[in-house]
Amino acid sequence: MAILNVRQLGDEILTKKCKPVRLITGRIREIVEDMYDTMYDAGGVGLAAPQVGILKRIVVIDVTPADDPESGEPAEPMRYTMINPMILETSGEQRGYEGCLSYVGMSGIVTRPEKVKVRYTDENGDVYELEGEGLLARAICHECDHLEGVMYTEHVEGEVITNEELDKLMKEQAEKENKEGDA
Ligand code: NI
Repeated sequence: MAILNVRQLGDEILTKKCKPVRLITGRIREIVEDMYDTMYDAGGVGLAAPQVGILKRIVVIDVTPADDPESGEPAEPMRYTMINPMILETSGEQRGYEGCLSYVGMSGIVTRPEKVKVRYTDENGDVYELEGEGLLARAICHECDHLEGVMYTEHVEGEVITNEELDKLMKEQAEKENKEGDA
């Protein structure tokens, strides 16, 4: 287990295109493990290898929802190791705030497809095709962009804001909606 240093916006490595993984070796599985450790430590839902300085096409994603607040029943895990991911199809549109472990504490609005179909190999060498929607679709697009050297900031509509500003905005919006509900 190792927590790796997450490169931050401005680091040249984040602008580089990553190379495909040709053979899934013990070393690759070690990188995957370290990427999960690093992502969980930082409280993220996705991480791409270039963010930890490795120019290989490896992505980890965990968008498992919280346990059911009433029954305490754990949600179905949504954890995916994607080696050499390839987006096959996209459809629909979602507009929302997005952040990145390589730009800590900041968020910006990005429009992404609502649904994404992706083909990838996992750490055991098995090939999958997965259809993701909502947050999973957003995470797949965001992480695949990293493999091309693209940060979400290149897609941002309007300004990038701090997470404190975002919290304030969300609160104001919720209050506004409550008021509208009362009227
Ligand atoms: Ni990111």
